[in-house]
Amino acid sequence: MNNDKLRELVAKMSVREKLAQLTQLTPICFGNDAFTQLTGPDAGLRVDKDDQPHVGSVLNCIGAEKVRVIQREHLNRNKYNIPLIFMADIIHGFKTIFPIPLAVGCSFSPQLAQKAARIAAVESAVSGVHVTFSPMADLVRDARWGRVLESYGEDPMINARFAEQNVIGYQGESIHNENSIAACVKHFAGYGAPEGGREYSNAEISEGTLEQMYLPSYKAAVDAGAKLVMISFNTINRVPMTANASLVKSKLRNDWKFDGCVISDYNAVGELMAHGIAKNGAEAAERAINGGMEIEMMSTHFLANGEELVNNKKISLQQLDDATLNVLKLKNDLGLFENPYRGISEEKEKELHLCQKHIKVARDIAIKCPVLLQNNNQALPIGENEKIGLVGPFAKSRHVLGAWSAGNTEGVSLMEGLASQIGADKLCVASTEELGSLLEGCQDIAMPNITLLKRKLAGCKRVIVAVGENQNDTGEGASKTDLHLTQNQMKLVSEVKALGKVVIAVVFSARPLVLQPILENCDAVLQAWFLGSESGNALADLLLGNISPSGKLCMSFPQCEGQIPVYYNHMRTGRPQQAGNATRYASRYIDCPNEPLFPFGYGLTYSECSLQNLKLEFDKQLRLSVEITNIGSRKCTETVQVYIMHHTASIALPAKELKDFAQAELNPGQTQTVSFNITQQMLTYILNGKNVFETGKFSFMVGTNSENCLHAETNISQEQYECMERSQYDINT
Ligand code: BGC
Repeated sequence: MNNDKLRELVAKMSVREKLAQLTQLTPICFGNDAFTQLTGPDAGLRVDKDDQPHVGSVLNCIGAEKVRVIQREHLNRNKYNIPLIFMADIIHGFKTIFPIPLAVGCSFSPQLAQKAARIAAVESAVSGVHVTFSPMADLVRDARWGRVLESYGEDPMINARFAEQNVIGYQGESIHNENSIAACVKHFAGYGAPEGGREYSNAEISEGTLEQMYLPSYKAAVDAGAKLVMISFNTINRVPMTANASLVKSKLRNDWKFDGCVISDYNAVGELMAHGIAKNGAEAAERAINGGMEIEMMSTHFLANGEELVNNKKISLQQLDDATLNVLKLKNDLGLFENPYRGISEEKEKELHLCQKHIKVARDIAIKCPVLLQNNNQALPIGENEKIGLVGPFAKSRHVLGAWSAGNTEGVSLMEGLASQIGADKLCVASTEELGSLLEGCQDIAMPNITLLKRKLAGCKRVIVAVGENQNDTGEGASKTDLHLTQNQMKLVSEVKALGKVVIAVVFSARPLVLQPILENCDAVLQAWFLGSESGNALADLLLGNISPSGKLCMSFPQCEGQIPVYYNHMRTGRPQQAGNATRYASRYIDCPNEPLFPFGYGLTYSECSLQNLKLEFDKQLRLSVEITNIGSRKCTETVQVYIMHHTASIALPAKELKDFAQAELNPGQTQTVSFNITQQMLTYILNGKNVFETGKFSFMVGTNSENCLHAETNISQEQYECMERSQYDINT
């Protein structure tokens, strides 16, 4: 259908029919006997019998058969033949589950996110999904927040590149293709900055920080063509996002030219009453619609009050028509008018879900995500033909997919992964049955039984202690203040050490935990995250040295909770702490270092690389090059990172910001020269929606993590700047 036809369709619809089109409900609200099933809080979703056939979209309904039935019944009732659109949370895979986004961020390989998103699209499209509520482009700095797992960490550029690649992966060449789904970037804006890390709390973000740090990743997703934007739950600088015209209408629509659909978060329109800016549902609907909201998810205030709001001229009919047209356009772009059952196939579900090809990609990606935090005296990798101890609550656990894995429940456990490579007879396992499992609600495992440990581990020198947090204690609604491992898990680590073993901690978590207390009892620490379907196999590949770990932290690990927020791209201070000079009146803590335990960009390999000969050359372009040599004895992949600092500008700027990175695969003894083209955008900051350049001195810091860098500096003139290349990320372009 062309746009004129769609406009004609909108013109035929009544106000109520349009309002219903802008409403998104759960699957139980559809079907002939829908209303009898609505009880408890869901009863609030009951819509008038006449409105039901015009509701526009369904939330989280998955499965070819189910979707087909609901669509068929709906079309039997809808007089315009407008199909439903099915939207769902496909976050890190559908049936084949990939590592959590925070882990994928540690790969520093945005193209892996694209691969995962493509497979998620292919698998979910055959099960009737049309739109995924992904990517989450929320920059995060506070590990207390349970949803850091859905983010790509604390750096704007990393978040932007991963968000963009997700969109490309989901949407493919065109969302009209049956194996593509539309991407909905969320949660616009600043949802990743809840005060105190407490879920759904307020975010206070200065305008400059918002522009420079928080907004670029949403913009990158929009520029990559994301078809929808989900508005966040939080209040930002006193204005609830659900009614934030300045960010939604001015920034997103006018400045960024976003022309897709804007959708609320779950029940967020009604929550405007709890925010205290609407005294009833009518005011909530009015404020949300005038704030730029188009689709109301899981509440019905638009439908209940919209007609009256139009009649009283509180909202304009034009707005309503535009929003309805946007929804119809999305349905049309997806090809739903031509084929409301697009892509749905039970046969293809069987063929594609968890197929060998997808599983292989899941393993390849999972291998790139764990971060080796410590490796004293080459505790890792584990040698061939060695008996290995395996203890702890995650030794046998298959609950390693990570939160938001709605399509699946279990992955390969660490024990299964190791056993499939070295044989079960080489493993001395003392796991959950003996030591107690890690329960939900931050509950501890049982006290380690020392006699049992001693007996079980008698024949092995190295012991893997698989510890972490229960995956149900992560994700939405799982903010916490204590980021330590539980007491008995820490005790388990120290007891294994006391037995004289080489201790290898493998940490399963969806956020940076406070690992300081276990470090001295661990010879090696591998941050495993939650790696999805192939978790155990990928970890076995790394622990056994089939491949060297290459992950780099995309979020700093704090020394203790009191240090949070701790992130590398912080602002400077007038009183910086001077190394070796502990003056009281400096910006510092008296009981803890300023630096995190493990900084952004950090991660070891089984080898060692050195950087030398950092060169800055200006020959029409500003080019940075550095030599990297593998001085260790194993093949490895290193990520060379470029940070830039502007010494003096009109406004205060961060101490350093990541501007580019490149990965080098090196054999022992091999040297490579890695070069970077410095673009205009890398030297600018964002002010009032524009990239601003100021001449002056710049520092270029190149290293294998954000703290350990070689330095070079130069002055850059306006003429030199003019010669440089523009970047695709340049906001001015
Ligand atoms: C979450 C969103 C999610 C939505 C629909 C909300 O509670 O904040 O991220 O997409 O539910 O499931």
